[in-house]
Amino acid sequence: MLLRLIPLLLGVFIYVPQLQATDGQAGIASAHPLATEAGLAILNQGGNAFDAAVTVAAVLAVVEPYSSGMGGGGFWMLHRAKDGLEVMLDGRERAPLAAHRDLYLDPQGEVIPGLSVNGPLSAGIPGQPAALAHLASLYGRLTLSQTLAPAIHLAREGFPVDEHYRRMASWRLEQLRRWPEGQQQFLYNGEVPEAGYLLKQPELAETLSQMAEKGHDGFYRGVVAERLVQGVRAAGGIWKLEDLDTYQVMERKPIRGEYRGIKIVSAAPPSSGGIVLISMLNQLARYDLGTLSSTQQKHLIVETMRRAYRDRAEYLGDPDFVSIPVKQLIDPDYAAGLTRSIQMDAATPSRQAPAGNPTEGQDTTHYSIIDAEGNRVSATLSINYPFGSCFVVPGTGILLNDEMDDFSARPGTPNVYGLVGGEANAIEPGKRMLSSMTPTFVETEQGVAVLGTPGGSRIITMLLHGILALAEGEGPEEWVRRPRYHHQYLPDVIQYESDALTEDEQQALIHLGHQLKRLDSNYGNMQALMWNRESGAVTGASDPRGLGKAMIQ
Ligand code: DON
Repeated sequence: MLLRLIPLLLGVFIYVPQLQATDGQAGIASAHPLATEAGLAILNQGGNAFDAAVTVAAVLAVVEPYSSGMGGGGFWMLHRAKDGLEVMLDGRERAPLAAHRDLYLDPQGEVIPGLSVNGPLSAGIPGQPAALAHLASLYGRLTLSQTLAPAIHLAREGFPVDEHYRRMASWRLEQLRRWPEGQQQFLYNGEVPEAGYLLKQPELAETLSQMAEKGHDGFYRGVVAERLVQGVRAAGGIWKLEDLDTYQVMERKPIRGEYRGIKIVSAAPPSSGGIVLISMLNQLARYDLGTLSSTQQKHLIVETMRRAYRDRAEYLGDPDFVSIPVKQLIDPDYAAGLTRSIQMDAATPSRQAPAGNPTEGQDTTHYSIIDAEGNRVSATLSINYPFGSCFVVPGTGILLNDEMDDFSARPGTPNVYGLVGGEANAIEPGKRMLSSMTPTFVETEQGVAVLGTPGGSRIITMLLHGILALAEGEGPEEWVRRPRYHHQYLPDVIQYESDALTEDEQQALIHLGHQLKRLDSNYGNMQALMWNRESGAVTGASDPRGLGKAMIQ
C-alpha cells in the first residue's frame, strides 16, 4: 500500500505494477502440439493471451485443416484481467445475402442430399479472419505480422501429415477429389498422403500474409475478396463482394449461471451452448445427485438433456434475427418447471423422429489459454464437417466451411448431427446459423477453469460431464477423460461411448424405457486448464481421445 502511495506523495506518476489476482503461471491446451508450442512462444515474446489466441487459431488453421480455418468461424470467450471485462467474440459465419429459406430444397420441398454439406453452396461467409483481426487490434499487444508469422511459416514450409489427418482425409476423399484445388492442397496424386508427408500450403501462406499486412481488409476487401467471390461463383456458389465487405464480428454478452456455488460463464447465441448448459445444470441443481444410484443419476442427467435440447430446437437462433427468451430459459424457476415432468421410474418419450447420423466429433477444434497476468481465452472454432465443404477457393488456399448445414434446411428435418430446428433457425440472408460450440469459463472458490471441445451437437453435454466432474472436486485430467453419453431430444436415443455405461446400467436404462445406441468410436477433443487462485499455478489436460497437448510455463 505504502509503495503505491509513494508516487502520489511525490506528486509524480511512476508506474508501480499492481499484483493481479493472478500473477502466476501460464498455460495453453490445444488440439495440436504445434499450435500449443507456437502460442507459448508468442507469450514468451511479450504477447498476452489474446495474441496467443490469434497464433493458436492461425496455426490450427494450417495443421488441422480438417477442423477449422480462415474459411470458417468460431466463438472466443475472453476475460481481461486488468478490468475483469468478459465478452464473447462472435466470429460465426453468416448466410450469404443471396441465400433464402428454401436454398437446399427441390421443387417438391424435399431437402436435396449433400447440398448443404459439400461444395461452395454449403459455405457461410467466414468470420475467423475478422475475429482474429479484432482480437489483435482491440485486445492484443503484438502486430498481426508477429502473431500470424508461425502459421505463415508452417503453411509455406509444411507440416508432417499424421494418422489423424489421414483418417479425416480418407473419410472425405471423394469430395476432396471433386475440385482440383482441394486435391492439390490436401492430397498427393489424388490419394491421401502417407504419414510424415510434408504438407505445404503456399497459397494459404500468401493469404495469411495479406492478413498480416492489411488486417481485416486483407481478407474481406481487395484481391483476396475478389478471388473468393469469383471462385465461389464459378463453382456454383452465391457469394457477392457485399457479403465479405459487410461481414462484422459481434461482441456478445456471455451467458451466466450458477451450479452449487460454481459460476459458469458460457457461450451466448448464436451459440446454443451456454443456454442449454445452464438449463441442464439448473435442472440438476434441484436434485442431490450424491444420494442417487448410478443408474438413477444417468437417467436424470439424460432427462435434463432431453428437455434442454427440446428448447434449443424450439427457441434458439441468431439473436439479431429472432427474439430469444434468454432470461426465462436460464432461470432456475423455469428449470423447476421443466423438471416437474421428470419421472424417476420412466423415460419421457421425445416425439417420434427418424434417427440422425451424427459424426465422430473430432473435427472442429477448441483451445484454452491463461497468461501470467490472468487474461483468459476459451475458443471453439469450426469449418463444420471434416474438411468443411472440401472446396478450396482457387488462388487463395482458403478451404471453405459447410456451416450452412447448421441451419434448419427444413423445419423438422434433421441436419448431419441429427438436430432438428424450426423457424428460429431457418435460413435468412445475412443470418448466423445456430451453433453448439460452447467455450466456457467456470469459477470456483479454488480458481478458474477454461474449457471446451468440438463434437457437433454433443459438445454441450460433454461440457456438462466435464463440469459435473469439476463439481465433484476432480481436476482437468478427469474432466477431459470421463466417458461420455448424450441425449439431444431427437432422435430419442441415448448415444454412449462403449465404456460410459456398464452392462447393468444399460439394462436398467432400457427397463426405464430409454433407447440406447452404443457408438463405434469415442467422441470429442476437450482442452482444459485450471488456474489456482491461491498459488497462481495452472494445471491442464488435453483429451486422451485426440492428439492435443496442454503445456504450462
Ligand atoms: O457450430 C456447430 O455446432 C457445429 N458446426 C460444430 C461442428 C463440430 O463440432 C464437428 N465436430 N464433430
